[in-house]
Amino acid sequence: MNAALYAIAKVAEINGVKVSGIRRGYEGMIDGDFTSLESQQLQKTVFRGGTILKTSRSDRFLTVKGRSTALEMLQKSNIDSLIAIGGDGTFRGLLAFSELCKLPFIGIPGTIDNDLAGTDYTLGFDSAVNTAIQDIDKIRDTAESHNRIFLIEVMGRDSGYIAINSGIGTGADAILTPESGEDFVRLLDKIRHYDSEEAFIVVVSEGDEIGTELVASKIKEVNPKVDLRITKLGHVQRGGNPSAFDRMLGIRLGVASVKALLSGEKDVMAGILNNELTLTPFQQIIKQHRINEEMNELLKMFGS
Ligand code: F6P
Repeated sequence: MNAALYAIAKVAEINGVKVSGIRRGYEGMIDGDFTSLESQQLQKTVFRGGTILKTSRSDRFLTVKGRSTALEMLQKSNIDSLIAIGGDGTFRGLLAFSELCKLPFIGIPGTIDNDLAGTDYTLGFDSAVNTAIQDIDKIRDTAESHNRIFLIEVMGRDSGYIAINSGIGTGADAILTPESGEDFVRLLDKIRHYDSEEAFIVVVSEGDEIGTELVASKIKEVNPKVDLRITKLGHVQRGGNPSAFDRMLGIRLGVASVKALLSGEKDVMAGILNNELTLTPFQQIIKQHRINEEMNELLKMFGS
């Protein structure tokens, strides 16, 4: 996200446009918490995770009163267009806001979940998968030394993208995701014949409908002698220096969003489809970016 901010400030400056950053997302918009953004100050943040503007989940922005106050604050500061970086919650917020605020909005997909239509990749997803892969590789050392079963839970909300990519990328023995269907039954069959003489890694998406704890107890039921541990990777997946891919994605989407505004676009999200920059209307992106056919096939081949 910091790379995207840097790119936005840079292109805006080249075109003689002033940029204000809104601190703490929609919460900060309601409070009028604006700060001027300059590319020189942002240049040295490209390698940092998170966002220097900070973020929040805003209950007040869910209300008409909150959104009206936000509009007043934008008007008071002469802000005449808006670029928002975020996931489906951010875009739902923008859609609701567009009912009373007629300023042009451009979106940038920013979530580790990779669950938005209109882009092949969302900002942060690649870095999160790289973090998960490194952590799973490390956990494997203990799993192999002790011949243990590890259930490793990864984030992604309702999307299995992180689980599929990190599971296949680490040679996991099974992958459970909201999309994996029959894989749990096949996993239990494997566990029935598991002889405790090797490591066994299961990557579980937090959105899996059975849930990590229940998976663990079912495994124990079918094979009570297993030595099993659960590790939840949690928020480590959202931090750390962004990958090379994410830094460039941030730059590309930042540039694309300012260019879109300058050419009169509104209510569209900048994305990358087949490595081409694209603009997709907000209504179309909130329907989820589901696992595609190829990914589904990989999940079937490698997931159980
Ligand atoms: O949507 C991004 C995400 O990291 C999900 O993968 C995860 O379920 C959620 O946010 C965690 O949210 P919070 O930081 O509010 O606990």
